[in-house]
Amino acid sequence: MVAEREQWGSRIGFILAAAGSAVGLGNIWKFPYLVGENGGAAFIILYLICVLIVGLPVVIAEILIGRTAQKNPVGSFRKLSNGNPFWMGVGALGVFTGFIILSYYNVIAGWSLGYVVESIKGSFQNLESPTMAGELFTQLSSSGQWAVLFHGLFMILTMGIIYCGVTKGIEKASKIMMPILLVLIIILVIRGVTLKGAKAGITYLVKADFSVITTKTVLLALGQAFFSLSLGMGALLTYGSYMSKKVNLPSSALSIVILDTLIALLSGFMIFPALFAMGLKPAQGPSLIFNILPVMFNSIPGGYFFRIFFFLLLSVAALTSTISLLEVITSFIVDEFHISRKKTAIIFSCIVFLLGVPSALSYGSWSSFKIFGLTFFNLADFLAANIFLPLGGIFIAIFVGWFWGIKNALPHLKEGAEKFPNYCSNIWSFLIRFVAPVLILLVFLSCLGII
Ligand code: PFF
Repeated sequence: MVAEREQWGSRIGFILAAAGSAVGLGNIWKFPYLVGENGGAAFIILYLICVLIVGLPVVIAEILIGRTAQKNPVGSFRKLSNGNPFWMGVGALGVFTGFIILSYYNVIAGWSLGYVVESIKGSFQNLESPTMAGELFTQLSSSGQWAVLFHGLFMILTMGIIYCGVTKGIEKASKIMMPILLVLIIILVIRGVTLKGAKAGITYLVKADFSVITTKTVLLALGQAFFSLSLGMGALLTYGSYMSKKVNLPSSALSIVILDTLIALLSGFMIFPALFAMGLKPAQGPSLIFNILPVMFNSIPGGYFFRIFFFLLLSVAALTSTISLLEVITSFIVDEFHISRKKTAIIFSCIVFLLGVPSALSYGSWSSFKIFGLTFFNLADFLAANIFLPLGGIFIAIFVGWFWGIKNALPHLKEGAEKFPNYCSNIWSFLIRFVAPVLILLVFLSCLGII
């Protein structure tokens, strides 16, 4: 007998689990440094446009595929395309992308776990400037032992949760941790914007200078929208496959997108005013939050505890994302090869761990090992976020908009959302059929120098 597929306990449970997948290092670690490297407000505006006209419609499409088929990415495309090998390949590309992202994402998640331990040890107490924090970061991240140790520990945490099954653990944890994360970020935003000299940082975030924008910036903004929304590789599809057909899909999708975008913007306001107040340049790269935040806490009463708490929450935010990445792989193996969830979780965590080791060493002994001029870590990130995810996004849009077809998709979309207004379905259908695929394609071609 085939075991019945697990389902989320409630609508809010689904929203928070999917938002848990979306909100993570992408919002707090990556978004601020991309903003810092790509012109501040102008990048933010581009990002918001990408989220609105491409991100949201594709979020709806991806969850819809999963909820309708109730299967993993490959199984879902197989079911809805009647076994068309091309579309099954698209599902497989998603699972493969999950592997790559998890391998380096888990390394940074490991850094944040390592920072919890360092915070408890008091390593940041006497740091007076971000330069000193930067030196400590370099020392830690370039230590192969430290980076690999915490990469391994984080992988064990991720495996543990997937091993036990998802719904109860993630749903419960997300319900408690997400609101706390939000409150903590708000406290830090208030601290940041009230620092002396913070104004320049606020200006940087609201005053757009479009002269710095190139097509590469557009690709980065689009890639970040996909990365941040966990889009284009079947994570939302997989979570959608555990969703009841009674739940209102479009409004849930909107809540996920709003929550994710809000936390990314707040993270910007948490970091940049403080950064300018400390007299630093915005283009700090991936070490940005690890240089600024530890020092920022030294100017807050009770900073010692806040710092521990912050890195703990950052780790939790990362954990609710790593789980969703491993769940994509797990659901694929369990559905397609009938291997038990427990075995799959153990075996594939080990594989992903090994794949992540070169990324973990990219800041230390392997830093001079470059492919196409990029370290292993940067290459994995660039390929996954800027190539595979948008590519997955094009295919999802074409699949729903043209192959499966809006006519077939709409009745499923309206299940649980009977009052979804017609003009909204029309806008969604236009965005998913024309805007999303064409825009992603144009950005790709122009980056490749073809147009
Ligand atoms: N959305 C996550 C973040 O912003 O940190 C990263 C991510 C998770 C990407 C899950 C893709 C995914 F499937």
